[in-house]
Amino acid sequence: MNKLILTLLVFVSSSYSVASGGAVSLDHADIDLSDKESLQRGAKNYINYCYGCHSLDYVRYNRIASDLDLTESQVVDYLIFDESKYTSLMENAIVDADAKKWFGATPPDLTMINRIKGSPDWVYTYLKGFYKDEARPWGVNNTVFPDVGMPHVLFELQGLCAHAPVSEDHVVYDSLSENQTHESGCEEFEIAGSMNAEEFDEFVLDLTNFIAYVGEPWKLKSHKIGKWVMFYLLVLLVFSIAYYRELWKDVH
Ligand code: HEC
Repeated sequence: MNKLILTLLVFVSSSYSVASGGAVSLDHADIDLSDKESLQRGAKNYINYCYGCHSLDYVRYNRIASDLDLTESQVVDYLIFDESKYTSLMENAIVDADAKKWFGATPPDLTMINRIKGSPDWVYTYLKGFYKDEARPWGVNNTVFPDVGMPHVLFELQGLCAHAPVSEDHVVYDSLSENQTHESGCEEFEIAGSMNAEEFDEFVLDLTNFIAYVGEPWKLKSHKIGKWVMFYLLVLLVFSIAYYRELWKDVH
């Protein structure tokens, strides 16, 4: 009997998680790890808006400098605002117990967040997904993270969305032109922000790009090496064809 109840419970909870997972539609983050300027902007934005609460415990400042073509003095001037040294890991000073008291949850380290969530799309949609909800302690809720403990830290830039922003799956049908368009974002703002929707999308995309990079820093190099390998193979192919022709020339 106990076994039967247990099996039923497992079945119900697994089908629930599939259902809830499927219900959330995510906006696509068109990230580009080869865009160094976007990664540099993302790094700066991360330090300014996220690092106070979310450390990046597995990355060092000097690694970021060499990957993103930054000099030591640029890193010291624009990225380091605490006691950290150029060679330090990006560990912040927030005390977990305090954070838990303030936010109801500890802000997690974000180095691996994209891998945990499965794709950069989640973080991208999350950062654009805050909206007004007076019932919550910080007055906001989130489309992909219901009852989130994090405040809307990009409020000044995005503004405060009056209702849950719509996702890219939201299809708008124009009966005059019979065109269908996919719209995303906030439809009505309670309080306006300093950026328009496109500027904010760009801002969040840079941040998402940077967060994707810190999770897999070797990808920058492997992409570069991959291109050289392809080039080498192509040259080899040309020579092989020439050699093949040369060999068979006398046989025919
Ligand atoms: C004032 C502190 C604070 C700041 C600043 C902050 N966050 Fe958070 N963040 C939190 C807390 C607290 C949570 C945990 C929320 C929960 O579990 O309810 C969280 C959760 C998250 C999550 C979800 C993590 C998970 O495991 O599901 C992501 C992603 C995230 N934050 C990204 C960011 C980014 C990017 C920035 C900068 C734009 C940022 N946060 C700035 C406090 C903060």
